[in-house]
Amino acid sequence: MTDVLAQPFALPCGATLPNRLCKAAMTEGLADPWLRATPELQTLYRRWSEGGAGLLLTGNVQIDRNVLERPGNVAIDRNGGFEQLKAWAEAGTVGGNHLWMQLSHAGRQSPRYVTNHTLAPSSVRLPLLGNYATPRELREDEILDFIQRFAHAAVTAREAGFTGVQIHSAHGYLLSSFLSPVTNMRTDAWGGSIENRARFLLEAFRATRKAVGTDFAIGIKLNSDDFRKGGFSNEDCLRVVELLNDESVDLLEISGGTYEQPKLLGFEGRSSSAEPTRQSTRLREAYFLDYAEKIRKVAKMPLMVTGGFRTRAGMEDALNSGACDVIGLGRPFCTDTDFAKRLLAGEVDEAPRFEKQVKIGESRWLSGASPIFLLKIMNLLGQQGWYYQQIMRLGHGLDADTGRSAFKALMLYFWDELTTASRMRKARRQLDAGAQPPAA
Ligand SMILES: Cc1cc2nc3c(=O)[nH]c(=O)nc-3n(C[C@H](O)[C@H](O)[C@H](O)COP(=O)(O)O)c2cc1C
Repeated sequence: MTDVLAQPFALPCGATLPNRLCKAAMTEGLADPWLRATPELQTLYRRWSEGGAGLLLTGNVQIDRNVLERPGNVAIDRNGGFEQLKAWAEAGTVGGNHLWMQLSHAGRQSPRYVTNHTLAPSSVRLPLLGNYATPRELREDEILDFIQRFAHAAVTAREAGFTGVQIHSAHGYLLSSFLSPVTNMRTDAWGGSIENRARFLLEAFRATRKAVGTDFAIGIKLNSDDFRKGGFSNEDCLRVVELLNDESVDLLEISGGTYEQPKLLGFEGRSSSAEPTRQSTRLREAYFLDYAEKIRKVAKMPLMVTGGFRTRAGMEDALNSGACDVIGLGRPFCTDTDFAKRLLAGEVDEAPRFEKQVKIGESRWLSGASPIFLLKIMNLLGQQGWYYQQIMRLGHGLDADTGRSAFKALMLYFWDELTTASRMRKARRQLDAGAQPPAA
């Protein structure tokens, strides 16, 4: 029997992925205060590159140094760092895999400790723990500038040695927020109909393709649904896929949800604004697979699905059924950098699973099942923090610490974010004053 996971996959741009496994984008938080790549990123990606996945996606790299998803993001925005990008790309391709840089603008989902000047299609604030400022509505000339910045960042990635880029248009960040009628209330050419809401993504893709040429891989990450009442729906998604069919997209990654409805991680958000999760979605290991099957019917480009894959059987079924061409995996790579290699060699059939709960004693109020929204969020942050800290450990050459509690992870998460943000803001002030970043 042929091992479907080990089959190479040819992309429309002419490049070939050596197998069907992809390490999905995971924010690393390992940039220096000037938002440049670091030796820790080299160590991390060298380990992942040697770990056997055919495609590695970087965590989101920002095209605007002022509006970050997290203070430790890498950015490509008048902050130097080209040599550091080259070293990162070299380390991340030692295993003969593809390495694509995920390009993003955080939009309104940039926390206050990064900036109070968030940007969005319309002035609609993200109402989460008071941690997000009311965004300013973008002017058209700024939208056009950001389109060119996506292209510029992609050219920089190519010159530095990355083998492709992925444009992040999922999870509620800037491009994704343009797609949603809840966050995009514009009445100009960039809002209203789904064709108008998708214009920013389409134009960013076109400008990027024009800048990098036809032989360089460009992927897109798109929500199957925002799972938000009145938001970007599955019907909208299908229409965007139709529009993208006319472009040369090498790989469309299917995900879902936003900060308000974090379905990308399999979590439920505030129930009052949520669309109910379908029963079929709950029953499947990969929670966006039934959406992918619908998307497959209209999509002409290759598809990848990310979210929840943990077993060999689940991954093989998804590929054999034709629902997707590539399997995206995130969290399993945070505790086992060699997971893909071991899966392909037949040594394991399942990924590690860690579902840590922020718990003090046995109180159900302090768990993911808590009916109190604030505690639910704390639990989610504790779990995210737990994965962030594993990634940091890997970058420092250490093994994952799977015994760490989610409560400790939550405390360290706050500490790390705030101290990194303080260093980053100081460096940003220096850059804004015209200073050159110091030699690394
Ligand atoms: C620690 C962590 C960081 C993440 N950072 C990003 C990111 O930078 N960009 C992105 O598109 N998705 C990001 N995600 C979402 C993952 O790419 C993926 O969609 C999600 O983890 C579900 O896949 P999994 O169930 O295999 O982990 C992140 C997820 C985790 C756990």
